[in-house]
Amino acid sequence: MINERGLLGVKGLGEIRITGGRPLKGTISIQGSKNAALPMMAAALLHKGVSVLRGCPCIADVFCMEEILRSLGAVTWWEGDNLYLDCSYADGTVISEENTGKMRSSMILLGVLLARNGKGTVGYPGGCVIGKRPVDQHLHVLKGLGSYIIKEEGFLEASCIGLKGSRICFEKRSVGATEQGILAAVTAEGKTTLLNCAREPEIVWLCRYLRRMGAEIKGEGKSCIEINGVKKLKAGDMKVPPDRIVAGTYICAAAATRGSIIIENPPEGELDAFLKVYRKMGGQYIRKSGKLIADGRGTAYPVPYLETEVYPGFPTDLQSPLMAVLTTVSGVSCIQETIFEDRFRAAEELKRMGARITVSGRQARIAGGFPLHGCRVAAGELRGGAALIIAALAAQGESIVEGSTFICRGYQNICEDLAALGGQIKKDTGTAFYENIEIQKKIKHYRQT
Ligand code: EPZ
Repeated sequence: MINERGLLGVKGLGEIRITGGRPLKGTISIQGSKNAALPMMAAALLHKGVSVLRGCPCIADVFCMEEILRSLGAVTWWEGDNLYLDCSYADGTVISEENTGKMRSSMILLGVLLARNGKGTVGYPGGCVIGKRPVDQHLHVLKGLGSYIIKEEGFLEASCIGLKGSRICFEKRSVGATEQGILAAVTAEGKTTLLNCAREPEIVWLCRYLRRMGAEIKGEGKSCIEINGVKKLKAGDMKVPPDRIVAGTYICAAAATRGSIIIENPPEGELDAFLKVYRKMGGQYIRKSGKLIADGRGTAYPVPYLETEVYPGFPTDLQSPLMAVLTTVSGVSCIQETIFEDRFRAAEELKRMGARITVSGRQARIAGGFPLHGCRVAAGELRGGAALIIAALAAQGESIVEGSTFICRGYQNICEDLAALGGQIKKDTGTAFYENIEIQKKIKHYRQT
C-alpha cells in the first residue's frame, strides 16, 4: 500500500491511483481538442450574438476561458457537450492578472478586445514550468496592425483607433501569436498578410471556424496567411475536432503496456510525424473504415535521436508521453526539446519509478528497459502528468500520481478512458478538485436566462 505522504503536500490537487502491468486493449473515442477549442472560444467574442462549439471538451482550461468570457459580460451554457457563448453584451475590456495567470492562452483575447472595443487590458502572462513563454510576437503582430501597447507592472494595456490591415512577418514561429494575429485581422480595415506563421492544425481549425463566421482567410496551414478584413462576423457554429495530443497520448499508453487499441475518431493527417516515430519503435498502425488501429505489442526499439519541432514536425506536447514509453524499451534513446526551455520535468518523477534518464539542458537520454516499479509521484504540468500515468500503467505494482489537477486541464476523461481500455486506474474522488469539476459540470448544465 502506498504511504499517504503527499509529495506536493497539497491534497486538493487530486490523486490518481494506478496498478500497472496490464496491456491496454479495446476501442476509444477522442475528446474535442483543447488547443482548437480555446481560440475558437476567443473567436466567438468577435460576434455580438450566440455562437456554439459542438463537441467541446469538458476540461478545466475550457472552464477557465468560459469564466474569462463571462467576466467580460458573455453568457455561457452547455447543452450536452455543446458550449454556447452569447457575446451580445460582452463589452468588458479587462482580463485580470489572476485569470491570465491561470491560463496563459487567454493572451490571445487581447487582439479580440482591440477588434471589438478598440482597447483591452490583460494581466501579463508569466512563464510556467515548461519555459519562459514570452509574448513579444503577440505584441509584434498587434503593433503591426496599428495598436499602441503599454506595459505596466503586471499587465499589458492596448488601444487602437481601429485596426488596420498590414504585412507582418513573425520573427519566430508561434502558435498563439499566429492565432492572435488572425483574430485581430479578420475585422481589421483592409488586407493583412501574415508571414512566418505557425502551421499547427489548431490554426487551420480556427480559420475554418472564422470562415464559417464570414471571415475572408486563405493560406492557413502554410507559413503565409492572407486575410481581407470584413466589417462584421456572424455566429460561429462548428464541431471541435478530435484532440491529436490526446490521441497520441493514448497510443503511447498502449505502446508502454504492449497493448493494441482502436481509435474511433482519429484526427485525420495530424499525427504523421508522431506515427513515423511510433512505427520506428516497432508500433504498427492502420486506418480502417475511418478508425485508427494502433498495435503497440511489437514496441521494442529505442529512438537513437529525435528533435521536437514546430508542425509538421514531432510535437513538443507528445515529448513527455513518448519519453515514458522509451523507458520501457531496451536501449538508449535521445530526445532534443527545441520548443520550450524546461520540458523534461517528468524525468525526475520517472526516475523515482526506476527509469534511467539523464537530462542535460534541452536533451534527455533514456537508458530504457530497466523495470519500472509503482510509487507515489507528482505531476507538475499537463503533459508531464500524462507521462507519469503512462509509466505507472507499465510499472509493476501500485502508483499514486499526485497533481491530477494539472492533468485535467487538458484530458477530459483520461482515467475513465484508460480504464475502459483495461487499465487499472481510478481517480481519488475524495479530493477537492474533482468535486469542483463535478460542481462545475452541474453549473454548466443549466441554461442561464
Ligand atoms: C501552444 O502554446 C499550445 N497551447 C501548447 O500546448 C504547445 O506546446 C505550443 O503551442 C507549441 O506547439 C495552446 O494552443 C493553448 P508558442 P503557445 O507560442 O502558443 C516562444 C499543451 O500542453 N514564443 O508556439 O504558447 C515560446 O516561448 C500546451 O497543450 C516567443 O518567443 O506556444 C516557445 O519557446 C503546452 N515569443 C515557442 O515560441 C512569443 O511571443 C513556441 O511557443 C510567443 C512564443
